[in-house]
Amino acid sequence: MFGKNKSKAWRQLESVYKHFRKTEMKDLFAQDKLRGERYSEQLDTMLVDYSKNRFDDNVLKALFELARERGLKEKIDDMFSGKKINATENRAVLHIALRNRGNTPIYVDGRDVMPKINATLEKMKDFSEAVRLGRFTGYTGKKLTNIVNIGIGGSDLGPFMACEALRYYWAKDIKCWFISNIDGTGCAEVLNKIDPETTLFIVASKTFTTIETLTNARTCRKWLVDALGEHAVAKHFIALSTNKEEVEKFGINPDNMFEFWDFVGGRYSMWSAIGMIIAIAVGYKNFERMLEGAYAMDRHFAETELEHNIPVILALIGIWYNNFYGIHRHCVVPYDQYLQYLPAYLQQLDMESNGKSVTLDNKYVDYATGPVLFGGAGTNVQHSFFQLLHQGTEVVPIDLIVPAISHNEIGSHQQILLANVLAQGEALMRGKTEAETAEELEAAGKPQTEINRMKKFKSFSGNRPSTTIVLKKIDPYGLGMLVAMYEHKIYSQGVIWNINSFDQFGVELGKKLALKILPELQGTAHNVEHDSSTSNLISYINKIRK
Ligand code: F6P
Repeated sequence: MFGKNKSKAWRQLESVYKHFRKTEMKDLFAQDKLRGERYSEQLDTMLVDYSKNRFDDNVLKALFELARERGLKEKIDDMFSGKKINATENRAVLHIALRNRGNTPIYVDGRDVMPKINATLEKMKDFSEAVRLGRFTGYTGKKLTNIVNIGIGGSDLGPFMACEALRYYWAKDIKCWFISNIDGTGCAEVLNKIDPETTLFIVASKTFTTIETLTNARTCRKWLVDALGEHAVAKHFIALSTNKEEVEKFGINPDNMFEFWDFVGGRYSMWSAIGMIIAIAVGYKNFERMLEGAYAMDRHFAETELEHNIPVILALIGIWYNNFYGIHRHCVVPYDQYLQYLPAYLQQLDMESNGKSVTLDNKYVDYATGPVLFGGAGTNVQHSFFQLLHQGTEVVPIDLIVPAISHNEIGSHQQILLANVLAQGEALMRGKTEAETAEELEAAGKPQTEINRMKKFKSFSGNRPSTTIVLKKIDPYGLGMLVAMYEHKIYSQGVIWNINSFDQFGVELGKKLALKILPELQGTAHNVEHDSSTSNLISYINKIRK
């Protein structure tokens, strides 16, 4: 398809690239006064301006041709109709069913999945409300106000990111805590601050076999039992999982289990029972609004022609950079403190989904797939890695995400923030030539020698791409739209690269090796064969820990 066996659309893009690659965005803006408007799409209260990217109509046409050639529209339909598009695991991929507010039937193996999804949502609603209203209390009758999510990866990052994003909506008396990492620090730091009588532990694990989560959960269980006795467990522990057997083995009553299914990938699961802590923190109605926002994006993705389809456009622009410009990086900068964990969340979503090297036809790819994704909250990161974005040798396409209205409109804070985000996009695109810099220095009264010495250091090459995403507010609905937009972008890219975005075999090898090394650190195995570096590190660590 690509690489050695290039398709027609691919070859066409290569030839378009040859002619286009030196084109400067500032010239495109000068030629087309309506470029900003023409290359913006709006969905409800979200505006996506992708005009500050390196393309013209010709490039776009060739990119949409590639999407057609790859059968993207049909592949979107396949996802929404419950086809087993996770081919390597023979599973349907139905995070979209979790927020299917239209409740239209979606069949997997001839059975509609909606009734069980609706039943779990109903159970989540009852439980989250019971906790919030103090109807479901702890063992000693006290209200549960410390809610601790124990999970890792998709069973942590989604709920954590969303809880932080929606912190403004938290019930005043509820505090959310997250324990994910395996070192004792996460557990210790949380357990030191909470009271067993008012604590609800949510053990979140799709498989219920993840060593970090189960180890942390056991430690928390012991802490609770030591304080309140074995009988208290039923009132202080619930499980979110697809694995009833393991939940029971762990000692959590199946009545306290909230189910989801193998058609929900871990990193796509915050819309499922995995979102329980979100529902408790912000209330079920707000959780539902988040589902509605995602549903709006789902409908847009499923129904809008490719040329105006936001996730598809973003996916194609990413492909353009990745496979033609050879830019294998992507940066996400949300300009809102509430969204500070979005980049970490998207790292898993994107890199675990599209960090693949084998095609669905069981061949090694000979083209680049998923980019390295990083980011952080603006304006903070303007004062850290933006130097490289503006003047470094690497070109890094960036998503700038900002709410027009802040939940905390204090003085002119929000206007300053908005001015900054807009300025960054403009500066990255326009840059500043040496001549402009020289002029500026001259106007500032600098002597010619100083101007000559400084003009290179102070100029900016420009032509650096950005996409600006404006939300009305960081509210549950907007968050739902935003996250679903990235999910669908990632799927669209996976389709074009012909990879399975929904497995993650790449995380297995290290997990298995850790189990081999563990007994060596516990002193129950010796002289296990490793490379000399690993053996040396093991003996150094064992020595220092004695
Ligand atoms: O190790 C990666 C992974 O399998 C992720 O895909 C998943 O989100 C995470 O671990 C946690 O898995 P589980 O929810 O089964 O505990």
